[in-house]
Amino acid sequence: MIVFFYTMKEVLMKYTFLGKTNIKISKITHGCMELGGGPWETLDKKHNIALLEQALDMGVTSFDTAEIYGNGNSERIVGEALKTKRNDCFIASKVARENLKYDDVIKACENSLKNLQTDYIDLLYVHWPSYEVPIEETMNAFNKLKSDGKIRAIGVSNFSLEQIKQAQKYAQIDALQPEYNMLERSIENGLLEHCNENQISVLSYNSIAKGILSGAFHLYGKALAEDDFRQQKLVFKPHNLKLEQPLLNLLSDIANTHEATVSQISIAWVIAQKGMSSAIVGTQNTKHFEENIKAVDIELSNDEIKQISQLSEEIISQFKE
Ligand SMILES: NC(=O)c1ccc[n+]([C@@H]2O[C@H](COP(=O)([O-])OP(=O)(O)OC[C@H]3O[C@@H](n4cnc5c(N)ncnc54)[C@H](OP(=O)(O)O)[C@@H]3O)[C@@H](O)[C@H]2O)c1
Repeated sequence: MIVFFYTMKEVLMKYTFLGKTNIKISKITHGCMELGGGPWETLDKKHNIALLEQALDMGVTSFDTAEIYGNGNSERIVGEALKTKRNDCFIASKVARENLKYDDVIKACENSLKNLQTDYIDLLYVHWPSYEVPIEETMNAFNKLKSDGKIRAIGVSNFSLEQIKQAQKYAQIDALQPEYNMLERSIENGLLEHCNENQISVLSYNSIAKGILSGAFHLYGKALAEDDFRQQKLVFKPHNLKLEQPLLNLLSDIANTHEATVSQISIAWVIAQKGMSSAIVGTQNTKHFEENIKAVDIELSNDEIKQISQLSEEIISQFKE
């Protein structure tokens, strides 16, 4: 079920419910990794807090963070910005791969609660599947946190179809957070369908492929600095960048038809996929944020979706490491 609300600044934000719960999430989730630091050049805390407040004001009620983003710094900024509006927002965080033993999960959650200045987390994910700790042990800890009221729902991120099926044996999984965009569509090989069939919400990250699907690099002359970590990503390899050009040209044409931007079309395509609950998009840039959230208002035609999907499939099949 989708619920519509007009918000203060005339963005028609759309909402849905998380998994089998009655917890409301916005169809665009504000990604908070970048504001925590790490390889991202962070803007100052005051700016980032103001942007989070603006996001909520404009109807984006869902926020995505993790204990490892800036080593707790992202969670602390989210907590500071949203503490007085806690009941109006949905906060998801994640337990790191190295903290998946029972006691470590409990400790990690306590730490996240402290960072976020709250007594509950709406959705807590396993950030990446463990190589060593049995999923049963991890899920037992998540179940305990849920029954103690410290988390409201359990999610998994970066899990394969087999891994999510295993997790479901021990806990009610209400959300999956995979990478998904026009240039990374592996979840279409069964995982997305499984989530649809099992009422598991999919909240995808990398919605604009770390900036590629905004057109910045193909249409607007932006180049990566030599030491930018994205140089190592498949979609940024020079050979693959060339292959992507026709897709960006098509997106630009479709954007013109809708009087929209390329980023908006890219996000709209993600949201249009069956079973996609929310597109996570990360930015510290106010102009980009305001642009991105308008994607919820764009209705792509079936023909446009088909053209994009066909071309993206052809390009992905030719990608080289
Ligand atoms: N579960 C996981 O393992 C995982 C992994 C990665 C990320 N995530 C989550 O997903 C969120 C999104 O991060 P992502 O890595 O997936 O990246 P993304 O949203 O695909 O792209 C973010 C990049 O795109 C740029 N950008 C955003 N809007 C733009 C626009 N309108 N025009 C031009 N550039 C634009 C941003 O730069 P500006 O700041 O300049 O706008 C930033 O460099 C993170 O914050 C995090 O919450 C989860």
